[in-house]
Amino acid sequence: MGLIRFNEKVLITTPIYYINDVPHIGHAYTTVAADILSRWHRLKGDDVLFLTGLDENSIKTVQAAKKVGIKDIKKYSDMIAEKWKKIWKILNISNDDLIRTTEDRHKKNVKNFFMLIHSKGDIYKGKYEGLYCEGCEAFITKSDLVNGKCPLHEKAPKIISEENYFFKLSKYQDKLLEYIEENPGFIQPESRKSEVISFIKSGLKDISISRPNLEWGIRLPIDENHYFWVWFDALINYLIDEKYWPANLHLIAKDILRFHAVIWPGMLFSAGYKLPKRIFAHGFLTVNGKKMSKSLGNVIDPVILSENYPVDAIRYFLIRDTPFGQDGDFSEKSLRTRLNNELAANIGNFIHRTLTFIWNRFEGTVPEPEKYNEQDKKFEEKIKSISTEVTKELENMRLDKGLEKILEFSSVCNRYFQQKEPWAENKNAETCLFLCANAIRNLAILIEPYLPFSAEKLWKQLNFKSSVHKQDWNSASIIAIKVGHKINKPKILFRQVKDE
Ligand code: ME8
Ligand code: MG
Repeated sequence: MGLIRFNEKVLITTPIYYINDVPHIGHAYTTVAADILSRWHRLKGDDVLFLTGLDENSIKTVQAAKKVGIKDIKKYSDMIAEKWKKIWKILNISNDDLIRTTEDRHKKNVKNFFMLIHSKGDIYKGKYEGLYCEGCEAFITKSDLVNGKCPLHEKAPKIISEENYFFKLSKYQDKLLEYIEENPGFIQPESRKSEVISFIKSGLKDISISRPNLEWGIRLPIDENHYFWVWFDALINYLIDEKYWPANLHLIAKDILRFHAVIWPGMLFSAGYKLPKRIFAHGFLTVNGKKMSKSLGNVIDPVILSENYPVDAIRYFLIRDTPFGQDGDFSEKSLRTRLNNELAANIGNFIHRTLTFIWNRFEGTVPEPEKYNEQDKKFEEKIKSISTEVTKELENMRLDKGLEKILEFSSVCNRYFQQKEPWAENKNAETCLFLCANAIRNLAILIEPYLPFSAEKLWKQLNFKSSVHKQDWNSASIIAIKVGHKINKPKILFRQVKDE
């Protein structure tokens, strides 16, 4: 009989991205972070639904299709959707589902959800007069504009005067404030939470949730001249599998916080659903200090990057370089530096020197240790406690700190190896190698969420079947490799690249 586990259901989501283009490094940033957390939960034995998707019912889709000369918008969507899927595979993203808002299963959900809040009396028809930014896919106010343009998209908004259906968001203002107060972990980081609170306190208005006469989107079930406002439609994607609701985490960047932390909770209150447990808005990545944009021509394509660097190095750099939650910067030079100094010279070096030593001097067999001295005991303690440290960081969404702890651990390992001098004739190589081999095994578990390709390679070198051995995050806190265990021929895990 196998071990019976009481798996917790865990739903982790990314935003569903617009398909006017293929992903850039900013989209990869969110998706890699969500992947790390999902993989970590799976290792803990949780039943994870890692959901990402594509927000297709946008005016941007129509414009993008026209721009490339494709008349059939659905055909354009299908083509781009395939590209997104392929790119997530390349980056080793382990999403369990990828929802497209043009799918029937989603359209059905949107209509049902709408009917639910309609039946609560929270929908009414009214006139909307104001400004609409097609870049934001949102109504904006004059005070948002800079020189008459939306500062985010550097585009003038459209002036709109039309009949719309409205959702009574204002009705939920007090309830939402109360909820945020009673659930301190709901909106993170803390600074973002204060931002949301003051926005709500400034007074919530009812929002228009439909647009008449679009050419693309989901029609309102009660009025076929109207289409759903794309954000109303998009947010509902998160309910695609209600078994997993409420979501444990909506991971987003700060640009779309209000939609998630104000409008979405209002919709959920109205429909009678629980709210997500946590909304985390990370910062924005720039490229060499500049905003990424097509007009500047500095958009970083993760696929081109993956042709020049190992995918794990890209994942590593994205997370390692920026305190999670703050703005960060992407530069290839820094990527190379971290790949060379941290992945290759530190982590890779420790692993390779240990395994090569075991391979050459002990015929690939983990030797029997002698009685531990103080130094060995201290090192053994570290091997056992490192996973607790990394766990703490992951629990608190400090993804970068988790990596930092792993790197520090590797430094400790290198130092121990250096000081034990297993190559010296009068030194005890056996104890050193026994403990270092175990340190590597624990490292393999700890890096799996972050660097899944490398973890897989490491399991092979250690001669363990990953499917059997890696599934337990908790076992990264024990000495599990036994004396006499045979390893496979070591191979270099990370190669240094030339700095240009
Ligand atoms: O807003 N730095 O889609 P979107 C960090 N469809 N993250 C970045 C980034 C950058 N420079 N650029 C993009 C939408 N992102 C809506 C979402 S959800 C129900 C609907 C990431 O394609 C980040 O996660 O504009 C940001 O929130 C998201 O992409 C915006 O993606
Ligand atoms: Mg955007």
